[in-house]
Amino acid sequence: MMVDKEQEKQMAAKEAVKLVKPNQVVGLGTGSTAMYVVHEIGKLVQAGLQIRAIPTSDRTAALATSLDITLVDINTVEAIDITIDGADEFTPDLSLLKGGGGALLKEKIVASLTREEIIITDSSKQVAQLGKFPLPVEVIPFASNYVLRQLALQGGTGQIRMVDSQPFITDEGNYIIDTNFGLIADPAALSNTINQVNGVVAHGLFIKLASKVIMGVGDSTVTFSGK
Ligand code: 5RP
Repeated sequence: MMVDKEQEKQMAAKEAVKLVKPNQVVGLGTGSTAMYVVHEIGKLVQAGLQIRAIPTSDRTAALATSLDITLVDINTVEAIDITIDGADEFTPDLSLLKGGGGALLKEKIVASLTREEIIITDSSKQVAQLGKFPLPVEVIPFASNYVLRQLALQGGTGQIRMVDSQPFITDEGNYIIDTNFGLIADPAALSNTINQVNGVVAHGLFIKLASKVIMGVGDSTVTFSGK
């Protein structure tokens, strides 16, 4: 049977949006799945829901603004009540691999300030072990070749992400090194190792940040709950 990924993303988005309450500060993720959430929240705002939102990318900010969702500067809040974001891979114990859309830096900062981090996916994103999807590592351009060599020493084969033969530039003006480490036996240990490389700004391993993953399966959803 053909799996309709778009339907699964939409089902997960609709289920997640039910968790948003009036007057909350809401983090808005980035990517094709998170975009469904922004549209759903836009409909609720049109119907009178009052929230303040913090977008994780310029793309999400532009869409939210076009839907009349009120945005707030992250530096004016102490915490974010709930964030809804996507992922490239997740394990049932709620470790995530993110950053395929290049917004991992703000996504990780927003997740770190969030009380309830909800991840929504289609059914292709569940894995037993992270690492089939190349791990995005965001680096300042000055350090890119040094970081590539350091990642290689740790067993990671990296390539600078390119778009139209030019390095992809993140919203913060950095490069992304998509790195293949093979299947990652210990994501927390690899996360610590990569964080110690000078020039790395962020990487796509999100450990102990998600509260729940809502996965679309056909025309329904399955929820994985952690802490
Ligand atoms: C962006 C991300 C996205 O959440 C991730 O890449 C999933 O994207 P999509 O919903 O388009 O599959 O981490 O940085």
